Amino acid sequence: MTKKIFVSRKIPEIGISMLKEKGYEVDVYMKDIVPDQKELMHYLRKKPYDAVLSLLTDKIDATVFDASPSTKIFANYATGFDNIDVEEAKKRGIVATNTPGAFSDCIAEHAIALIFALTTRLVEADAYVRKGKYKGWTPMNFIGTDVCGKTLGLIGAGNIGSRVAQHISKGFGAKVMYYDVKRNEKFELETGAVFKSTIEEVLRESDFVSLHVPLLESTHHLINAERLTLMKPTSYLINTSRGPVVDEAALVEALKKGTIRGAGLDVFEFEPKLAKGLTKLPNVVLTPHIASARESARNEMARLAAQNIIDFFEGKIPLNIIK
Ligand code: GLV
Repeated sequence: MTKKIFVSRKIPEIGISMLKEKGYEVDVYMKDIVPDQKELMHYLRKKPYDAVLSLLTDKIDATVFDASPSTKIFANYATGFDNIDVEEAKKRGIVATNTPGAFSDCIAEHAIALIFALTTRLVEADAYVRKGKYKGWTPMNFIGTDVCGKTLGLIGAGNIGSRVAQHISKGFGAKVMYYDVKRNEKFELETGAVFKSTIEEVLRESDFVSLHVPLLESTHHLINAERLTLMKPTSYLINTSRGPVVDEAALVEALKKGTIRGAGLDVFEFEPKLAKGLTKLPNVVLTPHIASARESARNEMARLAAQNIIDFFEGKIPLNIIK
């Protein structure tokens, strides 16, 4: 029987062609909106799909598994997989895969871009020039902050966190400290990063704190009101991981009060909604979850997701099974 695949949004052609070349029937959800779960299930009920190539915005849980009982693999087009109820999938013998490592460097570069956007006050300064406010050079206009010689604290030093450390220490002369559930001595040797056994130490001692943890029960609101008060008043928080890792309302309060100096966010707790007051703050730089939006990364994500489906149907163990 021809395998039927549902792809829940338009993705780079490479992934679609790989599936079609195998003779699979591929249906792509073509509307340019994020389908809610009801809409997704409406499409999944149309045919007995064998596989779903899902996106990080698709909530894949028992309701979806019930709506599409023929689907044996959900191949997530993302590194994060907090959108999938993996435990429920396992119970039902359904395989879930992700696309790790497809874009560690571009997320790392985006985190660093947010750091520099804040320290150089790039976004504010650009708006100032565009508004015609630039009337001549002055010594005290848009005073920024150095990165060289400062300390970057990483919470999470996996694929992405460790790339941030490499770039910022080698390229920009910053010192690095990190907290992770696992100490990584090789990473320490390569970057000079110093391990801290608690998140609190990293928060207290860093000038920039960059988050690189998956969203789990244990990392939900990892950065909350109490922890924000531990950070230096001159420090910046960067989040390119998942929005709910930060209590966004508490962050807005901390930014208003000057508990910390600024924040660079690519992800939001209730995205696409933003916490009240966030866009009014001058000391934040906000991007719409685009850290992996590069042609190279998105092609690689499409390739990996398609390959995971192909491997599964060809009786091989997909490379990126979520365990
Ligand atoms: C992007 O946020 C991803 O997890 O792939």
